[in-house]
Amino acid sequence: MSDGASPAAYPLSYRTTYEASLTDPDGFWAEAANLIDWVTPPTRILDADNPPFYRWYPDGELNVCHNAVDRHVAAGRGDQPAIHYDSPVTGTKETITYAALLARVRAVAGGLRGLGVEKGDRVVIYMPMVPEAVIAMLACARIGAIHSVVFGGFAPQELAARIDDAAPKVILSASCGIEPTRVVTYKPFLDEAIHRSEHKPEACVILQRPQERAELGERDVDWEEFESGAAAQAGADPVTVAATDPLYILYTSGTTGKPKGIYRDSGGYAVALRWSMEKLYDVQPGETMFTASDVGWVVGHSYIVYGPLLTGATTVLYEGKPIGTPDAGAFWRVISEYDAVCLFTAPTAFRAIKKEDASASLVKDYDLSRFRTLYLAGERLDPDTYEWASAALGVPVIDNWWQTETGWPIACNPKGIEMLPIKPGSPTVAVPGYDVQVLDGEGNQMPPGQEGAICIKLPMPPGTLPTLWQDDERYVSSYLSAYPGYYLTGDGGYCDDDGYLFVMGRTDDVLNVAGHRLSTGSIEAALAGHEAVAECAVIGVHDELKGQVPRALVVLKSGIDGDAEGERIRRELVARVRSEVGAVAALHQVDIVPGLPKTRSGKILRKTMREIADGGSPAVPATIEDASVLEQLGPVLRGT
Ligand code: COA
Ligand code: AMP
Repeated sequence: MSDGASPAAYPLSYRTTYEASLTDPDGFWAEAANLIDWVTPPTRILDADNPPFYRWYPDGELNVCHNAVDRHVAAGRGDQPAIHYDSPVTGTKETITYAALLARVRAVAGGLRGLGVEKGDRVVIYMPMVPEAVIAMLACARIGAIHSVVFGGFAPQELAARIDDAAPKVILSASCGIEPTRVVTYKPFLDEAIHRSEHKPEACVILQRPQERAELGERDVDWEEFESGAAAQAGADPVTVAATDPLYILYTSGTTGKPKGIYRDSGGYAVALRWSMEKLYDVQPGETMFTASDVGWVVGHSYIVYGPLLTGATTVLYEGKPIGTPDAGAFWRVISEYDAVCLFTAPTAFRAIKKEDASASLVKDYDLSRFRTLYLAGERLDPDTYEWASAALGVPVIDNWWQTETGWPIACNPKGIEMLPIKPGSPTVAVPGYDVQVLDGEGNQMPPGQEGAICIKLPMPPGTLPTLWQDDERYVSSYLSAYPGYYLTGDGGYCDDDGYLFVMGRTDDVLNVAGHRLSTGSIEAALAGHEAVAECAVIGVHDELKGQVPRALVVLKSGIDGDAEGERIRRELVARVRSEVGAVAALHQVDIVPGLPKTRSGKILRKTMREIADGGSPAVPATIEDASVLEQLGPVLRGT
């Protein structure tokens, strides 16, 4: 049994590695597959028989939990920490070794079996950043069940939409989450979501946290009994699944209110992540990676849970914030306490730290001698934040660009292969396996320096989405139909003369608030549900801290007096978005306007409004229905 040792045969430079990945993808990914323990090693690498659908390792079989846990214990890492749980918001710290993790995952997998969960069944996980969330994910993987983790900051309506789409047999949740200023009760949200959803789970397992215990109903099971009962004691061994079977579904926001269920396969994902840990993130087995995100996001799935654990590295599960828990030195404390070799977080976190401790005076209070690299992703890394972080920490600051859909970086500085010169504002170059191209409206490649739609020529590498959960049609219409043969990322940008990529922002209406991806459609649906609203539009506008925040423009129904009732309606709309979408949507500005600018076919001109709100003077689209509506809105959008 291997412990995932790195193959030695890779060429050492980025350029030769990248070219090898595109000229001989089968050879390249066959070799990378050796990083993983297979029950049945794949004899075929890429199945390209049915384009635009591609499948990696079509005849391979494995178990991802075995690869993330059991094999490290078998290889002698049983006493090594797998997880350092560090929770300043509850004053708790706990280190879980690989052996202890195996025992708990085995038990929880047995408990799930006891509730009737079998291979292929879905399990929704709606939990805060506690070890049980990671254990739950691995336990699902162990028995071939498909997990779908829903970020704890989402409100009942968002959770209900995911429950209806995934149709879980069981939901794993907790009584509460802890935010710095308040306890967030999860259980009433969960009950409300199940009340709203058409699909009803058979059971909900609730982790009772001492900060606020939940009242349990008929369908609910107490986590403690679940993890210690007869089924848990019997445990469960890893179940063999096909490499192409789903490991998880992770919902992400599109432009409509209906989230997209990203289908993540098992074999391709395991290989890609294990490969990326050394080649991109420069983390070796036995080292510690600190990813400050949330298990509800793709960064959490890939680099809090699966990447480090598939590697036999140690991960940090941090239940806290970059500031205020208790101060702007929190990340430096965690890095030094657990000897982390790298930190991975979103630029927003660094902007927040910079605001609190502009001179980075707290850094010197901690021993960061083993700390080698800072990775930032989730939103554009603005050059100011890059410069500040570089100066504060004195280590390379590496921007990496990717999406929930791809599961791991599309572009970055591949430190584990070759550290390339950094250009602030650029996530550097395409990652091996990704044929990244910038296209114009007709599908021609843009010359260097000119902006276009950033696309990836098919097939994409292992680990990326092969389709959407039970919706091949939407997969094709959302991502593949704009440019046949290419995956449309939804981001715009350009390449410079040296082949460095610059990602400038979404070309659609997807919002990115503090590195959290949110849909305009969900927020608009929440606003439109208010009885006074005739029409509305949400745009994402620039924000110094969060990168972007939503702003709502609302037209009231005729007969409603905006002057007299505007204040109340605005307050109610803010509260409505908070309770329907979640606090994380952070909608604070609602403007009541006489009308919304539209094209003649009725499409609201959100992009034009967004550009005006950000201080630009965009050309008025020729297709506008009534230019005077936009003119009237100008001062409101500019805040003048
Ligand atoms: N459960 C429940 N509520 C949550 C939550 C969760 N898991 N996460 C956030 N919220 C709530 C917050 O309490 C806050 O509520 P409030 O309006 O009552 O204060 C709201 O959602 C917005 O939260 P957040 O986006 O965290 O903003 P903030 O103003 O509280 O903090 C930062 C600002 C910069 C410190 C914070 O955004 C941050 O840590 N960002 C890092 C980004 C990140 O990790 N992105 C993940 C992708 S890599
Ligand atoms: P998510 O699916 O939540 O990871 O969000 C993905 C989106 O976030 C991308 O399509 C980009 O718009 C944005 N994004 C993520 N990382 C970066 C980055 N390094 N630079 C610019 N934009 C980014």
